[in-house]
Amino acid sequence: MITLNNVSFSYADNEQCACEQTLSSLSFQIESGEFLCIAGPSGCGKTTLLRLLAGLHMPTEGKILVDGSPVCGPREDMAIVFQDYALFPWMNAHKNVQFCIRQTHPGISASDAAAMADRYLEQVGMADAGNKHPYQMSGGMRQRVAIARALAMDRKILLLDEPFGALDARNRTDLQNLLETLWCAENNPAKRRTIVFVTHDIQEAVRLADRIILMEPGGIAESIPVPLKRPRTLEDGPAGEQFRQIRRSLTDRLMELDRPAGRACRCGGPA
Ligand SMILES: Nc1ncnc2c1ncn2[C@@H]1O[C@H](COP(=O)(O)OP(=O)(O)OP(=O)(O)O)[C@@H](O)[C@H]1O
Ligand SMILES: [Mg+2]
Repeated sequence: MITLNNVSFSYADNEQCACEQTLSSLSFQIESGEFLCIAGPSGCGKTTLLRLLAGLHMPTEGKILVDGSPVCGPREDMAIVFQDYALFPWMNAHKNVQFCIRQTHPGISASDAAAMADRYLEQVGMADAGNKHPYQMSGGMRQRVAIARALAMDRKILLLDEPFGALDARNRTDLQNLLETLWCAENNPAKRRTIVFVTHDIQEAVRLADRIILMEPGGIAESIPVPLKRPRTLEDGPAGEQFRQIRRSLTDRLMELDRPAGRACRCGGPA
């Protein structure tokens, strides 16, 4: 459904050297209804890739296609949760969620939009904080409102950039469960939302993904399927052991990518 054909990208101020491309010749596909996680060392280009998928940056070479049509700008079938949670600072939590509901459900009555906002805020554990403005919230609270807003938009493709990074363990687990439950609610896998989820946390990636793309600076190091049954378990027994095996091998691979040698400039110049 989403196809990247030989996609490269450079930020304008990095163009003096070809090897300074932030992303170089990426080609892969994301199936409709797939839950894809993207992991990799800091600065390898995960957010840049997500912004390209969202049509917020254009590839300097190559093409991104959604259902066969090129991505030329932000699309109506995508919602994105940014790493820095981008809420409207002049609106309280409830109004932030309502605003997106009105944009995506034209003609909805004020009372229905308010009830829907209540429901999504409750799902992310923010039922009692609807009247707080972003400056009155912790980082984790802001992130939960950003997630409620993206869920309420009910788009076919959901792009999430480290959405649970600022949360404590309890909220993180609750929201992982919520996201998986909402995604699995559609029984036909091909009709599910397509989710592209960036995370630093390998355990989170193995917990959530159908497939994990491990990035290295400039591109893709590996694409690893996660053939574990859902819901996934960390407990004893064969399923838990398989979970831990996948987590261990991914963590080892990520540690290799983190080594400074992996960051050497590809043109042979100084790292
Ligand atoms: N607006 C920009 N202008 C120039 N360079 C940028 C810009 N945004 C990001 N970069 C550079 O592009 C590279 C990839 O950045 P990106 O934010 O995509 O990494 P990331 O993998 O998401 O990192 P993190 O895990 O820390 O969020 C980095 O070297 C970064 O400095
Ligand atoms: Mg990032």
